Amino acid sequence: MALTFGKLCAIAAFTVGSVAAKSSCVSVRSDGEPAGEFKNVSGIQVYHSYPVASNYTSSSTAILYISDIFGVPLLENKLLADSIASANYPVIMPDLFRGDAVPAEFAEKGLNLTEWLTRHPTSDIDSIIASTLEYMHSELGVERVGAVGYCFGGKYVPRFMAHGKGIDVGFIAHPSRLEVAEIQAIRGPISIAAGELDASFNATARRNAEDILSRKNATYQTSLYSGAPHGFAVRVNASIPREKFAKEASFVQAVTWFDAWLL
Ligand SMILES: *[C@@H]1O[C@H](CO)[C@@H](O)[C@H](O)[C@H]1NC(C)=O
Ligand SMILES: *[C@@H]1O[C@H](CO)[C@@H](O)[C@H](O)[C@H]1NC(C)=O
Ligand SMILES: *[C@@H]1O[C@H](CO)[C@@H](O)[C@H](O)[C@H]1NC(C)=O
Ligand SMILES: *[C@@H]1O[C@H](CO)[C@@H](O)[C@H](O)[C@H]1NC(C)=O
Ligand SMILES: *[C@@H]1O[C@H](CO)[C@@H](O)[C@H](O)[C@H]1NC(C)=O
Ligand SMILES: *[C@@H]1O[C@H](CO)[C@@H](O)[C@H](O)[C@H]1NC(C)=O
Repeated sequence: MALTFGKLCAIAAFTVGSVAAKSSCVSVRSDGEPAGEFKNVSGIQVYHSYPVASNYTSSSTAILYISDIFGVPLLENKLLADSIASANYPVIMPDLFRGDAVPAEFAEKGLNLTEWLTRHPTSDIDSIIASTLEYMHSELGVERVGAVGYCFGGKYVPRFMAHGKGIDVGFIAHPSRLEVAEIQAIRGPISIAAGELDASFNATARRNAEDILSRKNATYQTSLYSGAPHGFAVRVNASIPREKFAKEASFVQAVTWFDAWLL
């Protein structure tokens, strides 16, 4: 069942200034089969999801999807990438962990997350993102790159929005391990979705980010979702109304942001 909400579609159809939104009506899919495909890009498995009525050769913009620790195996990540593609943006999601993503049921399996993180240092993730951006620019001909980052990935969108790093417009949700210097270095429009119950990006961190972005006169947006736990933009319990709303609305937040600024 696709989750479609008429009022959210109406929000997505807003006209921002004189710029008509690309996506007249979009919704986020939370179950069903993924529509995209994997390609081996210099040894990295990269998920590609295409807009129905377009392809890369006809798109000068595309979205880089920087995932959470569950990575490309997680169904919700592929369906969220597909949902963004259905809003008319080709989406590229690299396997940041080279086949070693955290299984969704890691707690039951007794996986040690601290130890897992040491296997995937920032330098490794940086290098995969840099080569994926290079692929998008040179092989796919993308001129302007938007990026979404969830949890773990929420740190890397700001990192690559620093001057000359390759991401032009960003959206992040419930980022983890995001540092002040990374926020300070952001160039370009950034939208942030925060969850009231998220300890990784709590009220103090969010207010700090707002102060920094405001002082920089950045083009930014922050939205706070009540009752939303860490991970809400990707994985929610859809039978809890506030969680379901937070996932839907943060998806629309991302798409309207790109419609407005990724021109
Ligand atoms: C992916 O491509 C690399 C070379 O770019 C090759 O060495 C590797 O075997 C390929 N992996 C798969 C799974 O096809
Ligand atoms: C992709 O776009 C190009 C350029 O617009 C077009 O010529 C080609 O037919 C398209 N291919 C598909 C499969 O849609
Ligand atoms: C997890 O791994 C870290 C680093 O290797 C280690 O210090 C810690 O004791 C481990 N925790 C558990 C519960 O095994
Ligand atoms: C947010 O987290 C930081 C670091 O863990 C902590 O110092 C701060 O008190 C927390 N703020 C709130 C409002 O919980
Ligand atoms: C803030 O940025 C906007 C948009 O770039 C610009 O029009 C405005 O002059 C800037 N304000 C200040 C105080 O720099
Ligand atoms: C989802 O939330 C409902 C209502 O609170 C609860 O009964 C159910 O166990 C939850 N499902 C999962 C998978 O946590």
